[in-house]
Amino acid sequence: MSLPIPQPPRIPFVGNATLIDQVSPLVSFNYMAKKYGEIYRLDIVGTVLTLISSHELVNEVSNDSRFEKRVTHGLAEVRNLTGDGLFTAQPEEPNWGIAHRLLMPAFGTIAVKGMLEEMRDLSIQLLLKWERFGPDYIIDPSDDFTRVALDTIAYCSMSYRLNSFYREEQPEFAVAMADFLKESGKRANRPGVVQAMMRKTNAKYQADIKFMRELAESIVATRKANPVPKHDLLDTMLNSRDPKTGQAMSEESISQNLLTFLIAGHETSSGMYRSLRAGMMSFMVYYLLKNPETMRKLRAQVDEVLGNRPIQYEDFEKLPYLIAVMRETLRLQPTAPARGTSALEDTTLGGGKYALKKGDIIILLIGTMQRDPSVWGSDADEFRPERMLDGKFEALPPNAWQPFGFGARACIGRAFAWQEICLIIASVVQRFDLALVDPSYTLRVKETLTIKPEGLRIRATLRNTGV
Ligand code: HEM
Repeated sequence: MSLPIPQPPRIPFVGNATLIDQVSPLVSFNYMAKKYGEIYRLDIVGTVLTLISSHELVNEVSNDSRFEKRVTHGLAEVRNLTGDGLFTAQPEEPNWGIAHRLLMPAFGTIAVKGMLEEMRDLSIQLLLKWERFGPDYIIDPSDDFTRVALDTIAYCSMSYRLNSFYREEQPEFAVAMADFLKESGKRANRPGVVQAMMRKTNAKYQADIKFMRELAESIVATRKANPVPKHDLLDTMLNSRDPKTGQAMSEESISQNLLTFLIAGHETSSGMYRSLRAGMMSFMVYYLLKNPETMRKLRAQVDEVLGNRPIQYEDFEKLPYLIAVMRETLRLQPTAPARGTSALEDTTLGGGKYALKKGDIIILLIGTMQRDPSVWGSDADEFRPERMLDGKFEALPPNAWQPFGFGARACIGRAFAWQEICLIIASVVQRFDLALVDPSYTLRVKETLTIKPEGLRIRATLRNTGV
């Protein structure tokens, strides 16, 4: 006999929709997880969601033979731009398999290693900006980290320079992307008749799609007409074949995936184009500034390994404390804090406790799960990189740390993000003394579809190390 899954009282027609904060749905989801426990249900205007947040249930649902990602709601609207590109493809769409198999090696650690000098090119723009503006300049780390992250993925994937550091405002492309993603989210919650009447909004939405699509298509066409001796992701997509079917990617699929790389590592819920990597680096800077002993240990290791020379690929494995800080930051603040999946068949969870129907949509609250005291102990809410050191990370129960998703649909950009963040944070710590503009600042987390530290401002003073 299965147990009833708790659900807040419903209102006719809208169900539980009024309980969800429109700006920060995750705040509501996490609040209800505290109130109702490891599993609960919500009815959002007829769509029923099952939300889970304990390690035990997330671990059980992390199983590709019983559950699979289904693209619904706001993400389904994003398909208006990216179609069956990697992030927004439904599991049964063949283009997902072709792109996945063809691109996996291009996103692997060896291929990403080959992108180090390009990543450095962009990271130096950030370092120089902080150096030249000097110690009195107030830095919004989330903004500058977003510039570097966006420029890096555009340059490494298609050798396209967005030059974000050479302009005050975000590039036109980033603005179009932000507007498009914001509107996609809103469309998911609008009845069709209302949508049809919003002519101006619809025209702007279509214009943004056209602009981005044409840019991607022109980049692909230019490369086809003028091949360059450069082995970037675009080159891989144009010239490789799916090892299973021997098929090439169509030009449309290539354009959709170029746009996907720019979207997948980002969020725009603030109305700005912000990167998941930028969010992660901002949280890292925050935790380092709030934990001077951690900063001292990290800097000691960076200074010992690097001295005053630029970081190289071989150095990454000599910086275990940096890796521990990255892991612990993504545990407490997974910048993509929830993901969705669905049951392949009627099934139960928790050893028969909870019944699920085929197709039920399950939302995994990763941020809450990564603080489950049954895994992380009574100090689960504390920032303590030591819990990720000396084999402790490797000894964690399966799926206890899952900021990059799971299985076949896990993040393809993980090695890319990891290398870029190692490079940037090690270089920042090596070069600068950082300080909070307001030493009493404590984390205000703006939780939307992704999370970021709100209002964090810092200063950077060049150290006297001759780097
Ligand atoms: C998928 C997180 C950076 C490309 C995902 C998923 C997560 C995630 C949780 C799974 C989503 C789901 O199940 O629906 C992150 C985090 C990042 C990051 C935390 C940085 C700290 C990147 C970057 C790229 C990227 C830099 C650039 C190429 C993708 C793609 C997918 C994906 C293409 C879809 C994979 C598929 O379904 O086949 N990411 N990501 N991500 N990510 Fe990332």
